[in-house]
Amino acid sequence: MTTHDPVLDLACRMPKAELHVHIEGTLEPDLAFKLARRNGITLPYADEAALAAAYDFDCLQSFLDLYYACADVLRTADDFRDLMLAYLERAAVDNVIHAEIFFDPQTHTARGVPIGDVIGGFVAGIEAGRARWGVDASLILCFLRHLSEEDGLATLAEAEPYLEHIVGFGLDSSEKGHPPRKFQRLFARCRELGKPVVAHAGEEGPPEYIREALDLLGSQRIDHGVRSVEDPALVARLVRDGIPLTVCPLSNIRLCVFDKMEQHTLADLLADGAKVTINSDDPAYFGGYMNDNIRAVQAAFHFNAAAWYRMARNSFEASFAEPAQKAAWIAQLDAAFAVDG
Ligand code: HPA
Ligand code: ZN
Repeated sequence: MTTHDPVLDLACRMPKAELHVHIEGTLEPDLAFKLARRNGITLPYADEAALAAAYDFDCLQSFLDLYYACADVLRTADDFRDLMLAYLERAAVDNVIHAEIFFDPQTHTARGVPIGDVIGGFVAGIEAGRARWGVDASLILCFLRHLSEEDGLATLAEAEPYLEHIVGFGLDSSEKGHPPRKFQRLFARCRELGKPVVAHAGEEGPPEYIREALDLLGSQRIDHGVRSVEDPALVARLVRDGIPLTVCPLSNIRLCVFDKMEQHTLADLLADGAKVTINSDDPAYFGGYMNDNIRAVQAAFHFNAAAWYRMARNSFEASFAEPAQKAAWIAQLDAAFAVDG
């Protein structure tokens, strides 16, 4: 996309990784209705416009209620494949060359969908997406924190035959009242399986939840983490230890974490040296994909090219890919800046 801001053009064009996107949150209204028809399901909305009109959230929970309701249209392996393909096609447009994609198996297994159909469908989508658009992608299995640790452990046991398809584990859903300390045994088990773990923390919840995610779960990245600024010693620790923050700017506005983008804490965190990355979270629900987030951030903060380079580089460094793969992506990023920057 051409704009009058050459820095914005470069940020949109640069290769980057997306590390915080929920595949169920990429379900656009048109695909939701298509899958509903295919599966003989009636959505409680007259049409796509009526569904889109319901995207008026005042907090995380108000979004989650709709997000889980819409996920009901996902029934078969083909549905999960088609959802993945639609996201990867859209990601490629924004020059996302690598994505680590959250999925919520409990949302589907609780409705009787076999976990093998969920993971098998996603893997088929990832393989086809790589062949068609060259986007590299892997899966992060997220546990729903509003459910019990026992439910999470049972889900992990169901997922064990498919571990080769899972790059790591995460924690999402309703944050307030569901602190990371609730899941210590579950995350210890995930780490025993040799996989990295991440956790949503400090989105709506307090900085203490970020400390728990690090200290009690061994989280290698913090998803959101934007409330860390309320605790300067915690920010100093995040900077010192290079803990990546997967920040989702449009999500935070749509869920009323901040009233306006100008109030978002990402600019201060970046200036402090925190390892900030930009991500879309649930792009179908929050007003846009990767480059929509970049445009909204740039309109508020007018970052220079060096700042965008830093965030893209952070996205590759923070990924769970092999070191040689990361180096190859960073070389691609350097080339984009050598020509344009
Ligand atoms: N926060 C917590 N859980 C989620 C989110 C989010 O933004 N999106 C999907 N599940
Ligand atoms: Zn999220």
